[in-house]
Amino acid sequence: MRTAALTLIGTSLFGLCSLAEAARPLEPIEIDIRDKASLQRGAKVFVNYCLSCHSASYMRFSRIASDLVIPEPLMVEKLMFVTDKIGNTMEIAMRAVDAEAWFGVVPPDLSVIARSRSPEWLFAFLTSFYLDPSRPTGVNNLESRGTAMPHVLWEYQGWRRLAQQVENAGRGDSLSLEMAIAGRLPDSEYKNMVRDLVSFLAYLAEPVKPLRQNVGIGVLLYLAVFLAIAYLLKQEYWKDI
Ligand code: HEC
Repeated sequence: MRTAALTLIGTSLFGLCSLAEAARPLEPIEIDIRDKASLQRGAKVFVNYCLSCHSASYMRFSRIASDLVIPEPLMVEKLMFVTDKIGNTMEIAMRAVDAEAWFGVVPPDLSVIARSRSPEWLFAFLTSFYLDPSRPTGVNNLESRGTAMPHVLWEYQGWRRLAQQVENAGRGDSLSLEMAIAGRLPDSEYKNMVRDLVSFLAYLAEPVKPLRQNVGIGVLLYLAVFLAIAYLLKQEYWKDI
């Protein structure tokens, strides 16, 4: 009972916090964590651009290899930089004290970030960095004001800045971004890249989701078949009464 009450309070507080932050409506995105090719592309971006600062310590490399159908030697060669033991979890070499000294905060573990935030939020976050000389990293973010995270995918997206229409100044939803210096990818391709990355983060947060859904469908089918048998049996038993 007490835990239930605590959970309730927790959820409402969490709800309030997310309401307070959700200044801009989030764009819906389509992700499919059964799409192995997309997850593989996302994994590649993740290990190259995120796994230096963020760990994903609930996930093992070997599980990714088998879930995403990546041959183990290829996995070790192309996707593992911190360790060569495929059974290891996705830890990072950076120590928490150093991270705190460099960024002021320790970058959070990303194992379940897609559940604590949402894929939509992650997509918005990763697409809304903009130049802001007042920040130590030189960038700010529309979804996470004053974030300590640098714009690590700048090479691909390029640099954007706040557009000059600030009617409703101070409100997140009146702000929009425009390109300052173009990156290597056109906007649509950068968005595809982030979509793959977010799909991978969603997979990380719940790797058993496809299995869970399959089992669910199996159980429902079984119940349907069983219902039919039970009905026929009932007809048979009550025939003479
Ligand atoms: C150079 C280090 C560094 C790299 C590389 C990096 N991040 Fe971060 N990230 C941070 C720091 C520091 C924070 C904490 C920001 C804060 O709390 O102000 C953070 C925070 C985050 C958050 C949480 C934001 C929030 O407000 O909840 C997400 C999500 C995230 N990073 C995703 C990523 C992804 C995805 C990548 C790879 C594309 C990545 N990061 C690469 C340093 C990094």
